[in-house]
Amino acid sequence: MGESATLTLRGESYELPLVVGTKDEVGIDISRLRAASGAITLDSGYGNTGACTSSITYIDGEKGVLEYRGYPIEVLATHSNFIETSYLLIFGELPTTSQLTEFRQLLTKHQFIHEDMRHHLEGFPPNAPPMAILSAMINVLGCFETDLSAADDDAHFMKQAARLMSKIRTIAAASYRKSAGRAMNYPRADLRYTANFLHMMFSNPFEPFDSDPVIIDALDRLFILHADHEQNCSTSTVRMVGSAQASLHASVAAGVCALWGPLHGGANVAVIEMLRQLIDSGQSLEDFVASVKNKDSKTKLMGFGHRVYKNFDPRARIIKEACDRLLDKLGISDPMLDMAMRLEEVALNDSYFIERNLYPNVDYYSGIIMRAIGIPTNMFTVMFAIGRLPGWIAQWREVRTNPTSRIDRPRQIYTGAVDRSYTPIAKRDSA
Ligand code: ACO
Repeated sequence: MGESATLTLRGESYELPLVVGTKDEVGIDISRLRAASGAITLDSGYGNTGACTSSITYIDGEKGVLEYRGYPIEVLATHSNFIETSYLLIFGELPTTSQLTEFRQLLTKHQFIHEDMRHHLEGFPPNAPPMAILSAMINVLGCFETDLSAADDDAHFMKQAARLMSKIRTIAAASYRKSAGRAMNYPRADLRYTANFLHMMFSNPFEPFDSDPVIIDALDRLFILHADHEQNCSTSTVRMVGSAQASLHASVAAGVCALWGPLHGGANVAVIEMLRQLIDSGQSLEDFVASVKNKDSKTKLMGFGHRVYKNFDPRARIIKEACDRLLDKLGISDPMLDMAMRLEEVALNDSYFIERNLYPNVDYYSGIIMRAIGIPTNMFTVMFAIGRLPGWIAQWREVRTNPTSRIDRPRQIYTGAVDRSYTPIAKRDSA
């Protein structure tokens, strides 16, 4: 028998097998604990709960390590591009030239959305939140796709993944154009993924448009950094919905809704709002940090802290460098960047943040890059979703191709009222 842990509960001992990952991470398998003992484990927020084994992404939060399929994020951010990295995440290996070409051709072939989908877009009110539009339109897209099932058929799945990745970009750009009161731009077959997205976002029929290669490069890198992050809130949502055998589109649409929240992907918007308010109000950074430390104020330093990273977020380091480089190359001086750097310095020297291991996360500087590129604030989280899509696709596929996969269904400990007797409504009214 392999290694095990022993649990003593009300005088009885239970042997619990260990599951050890390829990086020597140890999990205690409690899947049979309830059947054997009647007890469950409780872990609000899932800080100690592994919901699955996975071979896609590895994080060591103490050492600040992030790897996709065994490749460090620093290496991919330097040498790869978003489409190659997406292929790696979804199919497990870096593509050969012909595999990458095939994937790119599929992305180009499927870049258009059905004309009828434009009517759905027209139906949203002008101020509809782009994340609501994105989630709804991904479900609409699913209605236009007829062959959605074969997760274990490589060739078929490549088509399915490419279609969704390509069309999400067209939908995202179209929803921005609608909110800006401008006509939707059709995608172009001669442009690669990120350049094509920028064209759909910003070009106008009455003037030539060429994205600056520096901007294309910065955005492509931003997408790579967001491409997967193991069992975060939105990815767990995608996996959970997928575990009920819901389609890829339905599962990803649910993931978009989870990502929308300000404690998750919505933090990149909240950071910019926080910096703007600090600049506009002239509040001193010391006062602001004091208010963040006061629990009654319910204020958080947005873009700081992470459930897993307790030393530094490697993505934040790469983004900070990319941000400096981009602003320098574009000759932009952004007061928000200055404010972000000053605030970071105050926080990193404050015992509250030191004791709690709170560091800038990926969202702290990503908004400043997006501002420099010209992406409006209300599209920031949509950009995150475009970047995260290959990760969601890979994780959904992992669930759906695992022959031992079961529907996700956590337990609870009930703490409500007990043994009540029913009082007829007339008696309740007269009581
Ligand atoms: N500002 C002030 N205090 C904070 C912050 C913050 N940003 N983050 C954590 N803390 C405090 C908590 O209040 C808590 O203090 P306590 O021990 O005195 O009660 C302590 O640090 C531990 O924090 P938790 O809330 O237990 O951390 P958790 O892992 O639950 O939350 C989270 C992580 C949601 C990211 C949190 O740090 C946060 O709200 N940060 C701001 C929002 C943000 O930037 N989200 C983006 C995360 S990255 C991503 O999703 C892509």
